Amino acid sequence: MSRIFSGVQPTGNLHLGNYLGAVRNWVKLQHDYECIFCVVDMHAITVPQDPKALTASTREVAAAMIASGVDPKKHIIFNQSQVSGHAELAWIFNCVARLGWLNRMTQFKDKAGKNRENASVGLYAYPNLMAADILLYKATHVPVGEDQKQHLELARDIAAKFNNDFGVENFFPLPEPLILGTATRVMSLKDGTKKMSKSDPSELSRINMTDDADDIAKKIRKAKTDPEPLPGDDKGLEGRPEAANLLGIYAALSDSTLTETVAKFAGEGFGTFKQHLADLAVAKLGPIQDEMRRLLDDLAYVDSVLKDGAERANAIAEPIMAEIKDVVGFLTVR
Ligand code: TYM
Repeated sequence: MSRIFSGVQPTGNLHLGNYLGAVRNWVKLQHDYECIFCVVDMHAITVPQDPKALTASTREVAAAMIASGVDPKKHIIFNQSQVSGHAELAWIFNCVARLGWLNRMTQFKDKAGKNRENASVGLYAYPNLMAADILLYKATHVPVGEDQKQHLELARDIAAKFNNDFGVENFFPLPEPLILGTATRVMSLKDGTKKMSKSDPSELSRINMTDDADDIAKKIRKAKTDPEPLPGDDKGLEGRPEAANLLGIYAALSDSTLTETVAKFAGEGFGTFKQHLADLAVAKLGPIQDEMRRLLDDLAYVDSVLKDGAERANAIAEPIMAEIKDVVGFLTVR
């Protein structure tokens, strides 16, 4: 049975990168897989979080998943800290993964910045928790944006080393990344060489799923461009990261390819193109935002989804965790 696991951190609300790189693909994949989607609150606290804001963001991100079209009856939506197996398995993986493997993680280097000595141990061990998230359910496929590729390779290494060290061939599947669509790496609207990210201090760098039509239009209007008109073919995008990014966003939102989008706007000025892009973004995101607002007016419903999801996630995780403990040799006195 193919099983999907994926997650989003509740550090503020979702942005367009999270939506196009991940959540939108989940909605498409849910017809073919059994899916578990997680609001990874334990990952969020690897950097300081205001507790009240964390609680609010957890509900908002869950609401965004539902509003985007994930079916919480058919599939599981829950927040990570409600299933204790994530922490238990992460500890075991802390003892399987090698320091050398974690030292190579580029995301830690980016997030810790110059002050590495002051980063939390959790931020460093973060990829082990991510491997635990996936393997606690023996998930086989993981739909993510491009930036999570290295973490997934580590999850595969951990799964293989566990299987090998304990002599349990095929105990954990080696999870396959699913990096799909034309927007696997949405870039900042202010700098086409930097990833669109929640941690960018400039609000103008990203479109949030909660931005209203005016904000979306303003951010697109103010997005960085270059002085040339749009190119006649894909090759003309070389060395033009901002043009490539905006056309890529248009392609993803309109469910077309980059080549088709480039052909559609060949030779146009950015002014006209940006107007089309803003109209498309508002048309595509507006209904999701309306649904999100409706859901956030009914927190009892959102909480009921998270409660039900946690129970169903636990029911899958518990027997797997019991097997893992047996493999490791932890005595459970029954
Ligand atoms: P997070 O919360 O940073 O991002 C959630 C998802 O959005 C994708 N994404 C992007 N895709 C395209 N362009 C962008 N600019 C962009 N920014 C983010 C991410 O690739 C991700 O798919 N470590 C993960 C969360 C996690 C997880 C897991 C994912 C924890 N455990 C287990 C999969 C499986 C993270 O920080 O995602």
